[in-house]
Amino acid sequence: MKTHQLLAVDLALTVLIAALWVGAGVVAGGLVEGQRRRGMLAVSLAGAAVTATAARIVVVAVLAGRGWWFVQEKVVLALPLLLVAVLVAAPTAGPALVAAARCGAQPSPFARSALLTTGYAGAAGIASTLVVGYPARATAVASIATILAVLAVITWLVVGRRGRPAAVGALAVVCVLVAAAPVAAAASGGEETQRHGSVSVTSLRTPAGSSGAVRRFELTARQQKVVLPSGRVVRAWTFGSLPGPALTATQGDLVEVMLRNADIDAGVSLHWHGYDVPNGEDGVAGVTQDAIMPGQSFTYRFRAEDAGTYWYHSHQQSADAVRRGLFGTLVVSRAAGAGVDLTVPVHTIDGAVLVGASDRLEHTTVAAGTPVRLRLVNTDQTPHRFSLGGVAFRVVAMDGRDISAPTEVSGEVLRVPAGGRYDLAFTMPNQQVGLAVESAPSSGLALQPQGVSASGVAYADAPVFDPLGYGSPGELPTTFDRDYTLVLDRQMRFVNGGFRYAYTVNGRVFPEVPPLTVRAGDLIRITVVNRGVETHPMHPHGHHVLVLSRDGRPPTGSPLWLDTFDVQPGEVWQVALRADNPGVWMAHCHNLDHAAAGMVVHLTYEGVRSPFMVGGHTHNHPE
Ligand code: C2O
Ligand code: CU
Repeated sequence: MKTHQLLAVDLALTVLIAALWVGAGVVAGGLVEGQRRRGMLAVSLAGAAVTATAARIVVVAVLAGRGWWFVQEKVVLALPLLLVAVLVAAPTAGPALVAAARCGAQPSPFARSALLTTGYAGAAGIASTLVVGYPARATAVASIATILAVLAVITWLVVGRRGRPAAVGALAVVCVLVAAAPVAAAASGGEETQRHGSVSVTSLRTPAGSSGAVRRFELTARQQKVVLPSGRVVRAWTFGSLPGPALTATQGDLVEVMLRNADIDAGVSLHWHGYDVPNGEDGVAGVTQDAIMPGQSFTYRFRAEDAGTYWYHSHQQSADAVRRGLFGTLVVSRAAGAGVDLTVPVHTIDGAVLVGASDRLEHTTVAAGTPVRLRLVNTDQTPHRFSLGGVAFRVVAMDGRDISAPTEVSGEVLRVPAGGRYDLAFTMPNQQVGLAVESAPSSGLALQPQGVSASGVAYADAPVFDPLGYGSPGELPTTFDRDYTLVLDRQMRFVNGGFRYAYTVNGRVFPEVPPLTVRAGDLIRITVVNRGVETHPMHPHGHHVLVLSRDGRPPTGSPLWLDTFDVQPGEVWQVALRADNPGVWMAHCHNLDHAAAGMVVHLTYEGVRSPFMVGGHTHNHPE
């Protein structure tokens, strides 16, 4: 069974265990002398509870084999509480239940309250997963154990005085869950260290160019009604068009982009996704600059040194801004090459999936024999699957970095992570080539040689291409200056003033997640663990990371330098990051809704500080 399935089974068992023990206590409490049926029911519930408890121990043991991150709070908190409760209850409740089943004898108040308390201990297991998580901080463990002890005493007092066990049971479960809120607050609350340091991010900028070619662009962010090719009208926020203008540069150019905000009241900024610009050009509101409000402008500059496929988007209220259309593509080329070069962002707006700029199938004529490069860009929050029919192709680059010795791919679909880019190359054959996206049956791209008539394009499902086994291998580093672990999960936390089922990093939500601190020149190793049931496309700003392993297995193919790596449920990735671009950088899940709900961490260089603030009296809300 996969790790995330085991995690789900464990949670289901936890709920079942709590319900069964409480159920046994409640049924036993309502026994009237001579009611053997009811006695039998109480015994069966308790028997089922014991079985479920044993099953849970097995599941946790198997999970522990997958990694301590997956079970820590279960091993140090949930299971001990449950086992202690079972051991305390067993000597009295066991014989009492047997007597109840035999002749309907009512169990003693102690036996009944012990059964109920075992149920609360089971419920504490739910709180342990949904509130405490990894790492199980001592304060959280102590508070949950204390709450449970208090409840046990109250229950015993009330049951002993012939109170209503059912009411007490329900109340107690509610108490455990409500009491979890302050525990969550205590579990949060890290320290912010980005205010210190002698170098300000504002000094980490590209000087205006005096020599060399300058590529100048002007973008204006505005609200716009866009008529899609299908005739459908969407209300978008754009950088002038949907997608924004396709920015291109040649290696060596100085790129200069002046951004104006016409009427986006939420504010805007420009982040160069995947392009490792100097920190002050990174465009993150509240970290590297203030949000650009209506009427204001900001000019970004960077040297186009790294040829490849990138994209840009607003990093102010980014989940909303990107979804509504504040994005575009950025391509840096080596030199004007021969052939056809198409950049294909895929974006969903109001339920319409745009492939390129169109929500319909688009046809392009390409002469047979022409070299073609297709640059796929996923600007959505979740992965997209693509199929390319009619030709075998090579995946020549991912996330703007070349793949070493790419071989021909056919009969596989490509799963491009949220924010990720795949560059495909092939020679145009003498038949139609069709690019289809699984989620977009009515859009797509058809390339036809002259004289070949156009036909439809349909997504053809097939096994998913695995980049970790593609191309020819290179060396992987084995020694590191620092090691960090990020455990991604969901817990109840306070985010932006609201208490919700948040997206956490090591049990905390932004801005309380302690930053990954690095010294310039360090090679750091980051282990990313996904304890959840959703995919987390992790995106460090300003750096590419080299994939070291996935679930303990190193890649067998080309070294993979990624800026967005998809950590699927239950997966463990290890990546190396070379600290060669000083600044205060965001690293976050590029399912931007997850980022907005807490899943953000900072990568902070020693000695660098940001004078900007998130929230408070500012407009800055990067996510
Ligand atoms: Cu594509 Cu922090 O972003
Ligand atoms: Cu996520």
